[in-house]
Amino acid sequence: MIKLNAVEKVFRRKKRPAVTAVSNINLTIEKGEIFGIIGYSGAGKSTLLRMINQLEKPTSGTVTVGNVDFTTLRGKQLRQARQKIGMIFQHFNLLWSRTAAENISLPLEVANVPKAERDAKVAELIKLVGLEGREDAYPAQLSGGQKQRVGIARALANNPSILLCDEATSALDPKTTDSILQLLLDINKRLGLTIVLITHEFDVIRKICKKVAVMENGSIVEQGNVQQIFHQPRHQATKSFVKGTELEVISK
Ligand SMILES: Nc1ncnc2c1ncn2[C@@H]1O[C@H](COP(=O)(O)OP(=O)(O)OP(=O)(O)O)[C@@H](O)[C@H]1O
Ligand SMILES: [Mg+2]
Repeated sequence: MIKLNAVEKVFRRKKRPAVTAVSNINLTIEKGEIFGIIGYSGAGKSTLLRMINQLEKPTSGTVTVGNVDFTTLRGKQLRQARQKIGMIFQHFNLLWSRTAAENISLPLEVANVPKAERDAKVAELIKLVGLEGREDAYPAQLSGGQKQRVGIARALANNPSILLCDEATSALDPKTTDSILQLLLDINKRLGLTIVLITHEFDVIRKICKKVAVMENGSIVEQGNVQQIFHQPRHQATKSFVKGTELEVISK
């Protein structure tokens, strides 16, 4: 479904040394899978995730989604292809002057969906993420968990087949984190959505991911099945992430 082949990203900056944020990444993410990427700050996780929807162009290598080489797409073709990939963020990135329903409606407006269809889709999404009764609230009137539910509904508006999550639960308390992870798991099961999530907490990985890749200094240092890596971490970075996680699991 998603295939990264020898992907590299170098940021070149004026009068300062270039930064290799991601180097020689080879990764295959299967359709319908929840795939976790874990690493410390600066490991290159966000850069890697942003290359999947081409918010960052790789310096070299290819990113294929379905059978399409995303690295070759430009302009309208890229915008259309991108509609199949939703994204959510640590700080939600909602528009503060719009209500929950209006935030969710935004991508539908951009895609020129007629008003009646838009309203029906927004109502369906509000229900899917459990925000009934809060449609007309502004982000400032919502809790962190509710804001992320708006973010998730907005990301799903154009019926994507992939959802990218950049530290989507890092600003939330443990209980709210669990409820958002449960929602992601529900959506994955109900809609068959492929989810790629990045985090610096192994607990998040362990609770909902099937597979994990561990990143350090722009490279993947270890990857595989979560249970196997949890029980037999090999790389030092993996060991330190695994250490200290508890042994309770949300049903998979
Ligand atoms: N636009 C940019 N210009 C220059 N350097 C960048 C840019 N974006 C990222 N970097 C550098 O690339 C490296 C990887 O950054 P990235 O944001 O991908 O890491 P991360 O794993 O997501 O970290 P965090 O957990 O803090 O979000 C870092 O050294 C960062 O400073
Ligand atoms: Mg990041």
